[in-house]
Amino acid sequence: MTETLDIKITKTTNSRLSQTDFSNLPFGKIFSDHMFVADYADGEWKNFQIVPYAEIGLTPAISALHYGQAFFEGLKAYKHADGKVSVFRPDKNAERFNKSAERLCMPELPEEIFIQSIAALVDLDRNWIPAQANHSLYIRPFMFATDPFLGVAPSLTYKFIVLTCPVGPYFSKTLRVKIETYYTRAAEGGMGYAKSAGNYGGAMLPSRKAVEEGFDQIIWTDAKEHKYIEEMGAANAMFVLDGKLITPSTDENTILKGVTCNTVMTLARDWGFPVEQRRISVAEIIEGAKNGKLTDAFGAGTAATIAPVGSIGHDGEEYFLSDPKTREFSQKVLKTLDGIRYGNAPDPHGWNYMI
Ligand code: PLP
Ligand code: COI
Repeated sequence: MTETLDIKITKTTNSRLSQTDFSNLPFGKIFSDHMFVADYADGEWKNFQIVPYAEIGLTPAISALHYGQAFFEGLKAYKHADGKVSVFRPDKNAERFNKSAERLCMPELPEEIFIQSIAALVDLDRNWIPAQANHSLYIRPFMFATDPFLGVAPSLTYKFIVLTCPVGPYFSKTLRVKIETYYTRAAEGGMGYAKSAGNYGGAMLPSRKAVEEGFDQIIWTDAKEHKYIEEMGAANAMFVLDGKLITPSTDENTILKGVTCNTVMTLARDWGFPVEQRRISVAEIIEGAKNGKLTDAFGAGTAATIAPVGSIGHDGEEYFLSDPKTREFSQKVLKTLDGIRYGNAPDPHGWNYMI
């Protein structure tokens, strides 16, 4: 499908834009004026609409609420200095959207619908994209099951909705992370690679316990032995160890294949920096933190961007890393990424989708 999507647009008559304080944008709490909504029924996607952001009426029996047929994506739109607007790598999110859909026995959404719905919504609400440094419009596409049926079976009807939020940085400080060796996020054969709502619900108790211990985030480990690093709460884990960029392998399908992680690896390869995506043991990370060979550690994610790890807790010990401002690799990555996303540097890989 390459033709333009037929979207019925109903504009708000009561914009909240002028009452929104753009100097105070807590993540995910302020929504732009409009949202995109589509329905799946009778085996097809239909009723493509952009409507004012508002509550939606649903029966309490929808199967998403009972059995968790629900998943989401996260991507961002950026305002360039010359006023142009771009969305970063939406094709990658469209691809992952359909991997999540498949795993949860939900219908695929053609890439064109995913991208055109986002493009139309961002275009309409382009004045909601913050212009200040490190800010953007967070885009949240999601799908959920709407059959009013309490039997455990894949729903026959679904909704696809896209919301957007003007946001600043998700993490405001250097992270103190805990390597989790009891709780498990995902096991082989599970749905760790899907952006399913349930993956996040299941992470809340372990995360709260870690916060009660004084940490900001968990680094998950493998379900079998808790010996190998998986990913961070809402980001992929990346390290520079012994002069190489390393990040956990996604072959076991337990980890989300991050767009940001893929972008960072691509930039590193462009620079001729050695990159290894492989199993990473907790022991080698702790050893590197002790002997100084671990020169960089960060979470990479759309919301998180490049979130520096300041210290790593493991087995009751805490290992402190260098001051993030002095770290060569992640500083260079952040500068390069910002240059591309905000249109101040060339975009040789064609990552910016212009609106
Ligand atoms: N891992 C998890 C669990 C996440 O929630 C995210 C955020 O989307 C990521 C990794 C990073 O993925 P991406 O860079 O595509 O945002
Ligand atoms: C994202 O970066 O899009 C995420 O999924 C993080 C979110 C859970 C806040």
